[in-house]
Amino acid sequence: MSSSGTRTDLGRALCIITGASRGFGRVVARRVSELLKPGSALVLAARSGDELRAAAAEVTGAAAGGGGLRVHCVPVDLSLSDGLKELLDTVRTSFTEDMDHVLLINNAGSIGDVSRYMRSFTNMAEVDSYLSFNVSSSLCLTAGVLEACPRRPGLRRSVVNITSLCALKPHCSWVLYCTGKAARDMMFQGAGGGGAGRPGAQLLSRTSGH
Ligand SMILES: NC(=O)c1ccc[n+]([C@@H]2O[C@H](COP(=O)([O-])OP(=O)(O)OC[C@H]3O[C@@H](n4cnc5c(N)ncnc54)[C@H](OP(=O)(O)O)[C@@H]3O)[C@@H](O)[C@H]2O)c1
Repeated sequence: MSSSGTRTDLGRALCIITGASRGFGRVVARRVSELLKPGSALVLAARSGDELRAAAAEVTGAAAGGGGLRVHCVPVDLSLSDGLKELLDTVRTSFTEDMDHVLLINNAGSIGDVSRYMRSFTNMAEVDSYLSFNVSSSLCLTAGVLEACPRRPGLRRSVVNITSLCALKPHCSWVLYCTGKAARDMMFQGAGGGGAGRPGAQLLSRTSGH
């Protein structure tokens, strides 16, 4: 803790970041690695293995705990069930009993073709494919991570959804992107509600700030 009482590290954590090969996710991976205690593990997912390995090399240089951080690159397509399964397999094998925090950052997302209007989306398979990656995978990954790392005393569980102003404000040629971001926001608000179905995790939606 700092003198102001603000927490300055993320603990001995398992941190999973999707879309870590470039852009915002790659920057977040570096920043997060500086805040992890030795004994932590960082799981980086995206399709491009080469870019993930380059991101992992940056992270290893920046890590607070020096050699105390294990970094796993998982090159998978998250629009596919097999990709999600492979990522969850790595989550299970990376999680250890001495960890005190599980942090999932649902960052991966695609903008889609923003030159097209709603009337052009007549192909259901095309729309399904977009929603499968941008909506279904983040819901199933969140549920899978919470299942793989069950509640126990002393374990903090946090899930971050990287959202956009487009979740709230419609743009007529950004129909898929606005739909996907709004659905993800609602999913996280719904999951964060009270009652018997509450996930026992802190759920946050944050914009990437650009
Ligand atoms: N850029 C903006 O102005 C802005 C504004 C507000 C919110 N956001 C949000 O911030 C997040 C990051 O945006 P960004 O601009 O950094 O995006 P980006 O540069 O396009 O990066 C997207 C990331 O997602 C990965 N990805 C794409 N398709 C994938 C798939 N099928 N399976 C697995 N990984 C996949 C990409 O890696 P591979 O290609 O290697 O798979 C990449 O690492 C997104 O959720 C976006 O909606 C962005």
